[in-house]
Parts: sequence; structure tokens; C-alpha cells
Amino acid sequence: MVAAVHTHAKLKVEQAAGSAGAYLTGVDLSKTLDGEEVAGIRKALLDHLVVALPDQTMSLDDLERLTDQLGGRDVTPFVKPLPDRPYVIRILKEPHEKLNFANAWHTDLSYLPAPPSFTLLYCLEAPPQGGDTIWANQYMAYDTLSKGLRETLLGLDAVHSAGMAYGDGGYLDGVKHLMSTPIEPSKEARREEIHPAVIAHAETGRPALYLNPVYTTRIAGWTNAESQSLLGHLYKHSVNENFTWRLKWAKGTLAIWDNRSTQHFAMNDYHGFRREMVRTSVKGSVPKRAVG
Ligand code: SIN
Repeated sequence: MVAAVHTHAKLKVEQAAGSAGAYLTGVDLSKTLDGEEVAGIRKALLDHLVVALPDQTMSLDDLERLTDQLGGRDVTPFVKPLPDRPYVIRILKEPHEKLNFANAWHTDLSYLPAPPSFTLLYCLEAPPQGGDTIWANQYMAYDTLSKGLRETLLGLDAVHSAGMAYGDGGYLDGVKHLMSTPIEPSKEARREEIHPAVIAHAETGRPALYLNPVYTTRIAGWTNAESQSLLGHLYKHSVNENFTWRLKWAKGTLAIWDNRSTQHFAMNDYHGFRREMVRTSVKGSVPKRAVG
């Protein structure tokens, strides 16, 4: 579905769905973007949460330069970066592999004190079908809760940790030998960080639900059992189909998404085919509590 079309000088923005997503054309990412182009991409990201720029020919230098223009590179812990590229990771599934990376709803690196504002993912090879990524709008997730639950959540904090996924003995430690994406489990992954359950987006100020099943472990001050019943309800609600947008990848597509207002999920429905992506993260800020 293609809805409203907006243009910023050369940049063309076509909204892709009602909940999130826009296609951006009219810029060449193999060149250094001017201030107006960068501002146009930022505005599209704030308006649409996820943007896809098809048919780009980008080198790793181009990807790093755009990452810097959007706010500066940040590291991705617990995944080995590319040689001499400490800020770039490769996400790869070979035809013989059965497991893929990020096959669960999550918000990137929410276990960090200052999680990344944006993630950039560039497609080097896409399967002929399958391997889509799905995003869910977390402003909508918050806005569609009852008034009573919204008010309760505004007063809660949640504990986040990379331990379940990347801790030594964690899920990925057990299966990393089956995956080409180079996972580096660590006991450091068990470190805990506390963030508000509902954040005020650092740029739009809008309240967004900030909980995800991969990295959120419990509600701060609650037992695990108490936490899981509320979190279970919220995890299901937060990825309601009506809040989502799904991108079909092709070689040369760059997607950029806002981690402060979305969760995402990488489909694993392309056994027998290769999918290769490179990813960078843009430095973010400490999440702030939303108020009423
Ligand atoms: C990720 O979560 O960064 C990976 C998403 C994908 O491979 O589609």
C-alpha cells in the first residue's frame, strides 16, 4: 500500500502503511548527503519510524558516513564486528543453516544505559522469498492501552539485560556454533540496566512503550512471577498486527529504524537460501520517563 507522498527537495517520501514505514527515494547514499537530505531522512524517521531506501549501492565507508551523519556510530556488544570495522556487524544466514539472528521481537540494545537511537541495516543478499523484517509501532502500543494501565505503567521501571540472549550459558551461547552471525557470549551480558516502562521519545516527546521480550527481564521492584503476567500481556499487545509494517528485502535496500518507538522481528522462513546484511547503530541517549 502506498499512501501520502511528501517531498523534501530531491528526497521523496512515500508512506507505506498506516502504522509505520516509508519508502525514500531521490538520494544517492554512495555520496555524502547534504544537510537538507540528512534532515529530510531524520524527519521521515520521526514521522514514519522505519524508512526503506531501495536500490542503493553502498560501501561500508558509505554506511559508516551515513551513521555518523545521523548522530555517530555506536558499538554492538556481543556480536563480533567486521575486521577493522569496530562499528559494523554482519548478519548472515547460509543456505544450510536453520537458525537466523533476531528471530524474536526486540528493541536493539535496550540493555545499555543509552541504547542506540537508530539502527541501519543494509542488504547485500536477499533470499528470493522470505526473510522479511517486521516492525511494530510502540507509540500505538502505549496509546491503545486502557487509561488505567497507561497510568500504572507511567510509574513503573523495568530491568533490562542481554543475559538471556548473550550471557555465558544463555540462549545464543547454546546455538552459536549453528549460526554464521558471529555471536560472542559473555558474562558481561548479565549486567542489568533499569529504564522507564514508558519513555518520552527524545525528539518527538511522545510516550512509547519501552519493554521487549528479549531484553526486559522484570518490572523493577516486582518478583519474576509478578512481572511475567503483566509483561506477557504487554508483549502480546505491543506487537498487535495493526501496529506493524513488514519490509521485503532486496539487494541494495537500506532500512533505518527508530529504536525509541519500535520493536522489530526478523522472519526465519527462507531455509535453503542465503541472506546477508551489514548493520550499524547510531548513538542514543539515556531514555527518559514519559509523563501523563
Ligand atoms: C536485527 O535485529 O538487527 C536484524 C534484523 C534483520 O536481520 O532483519
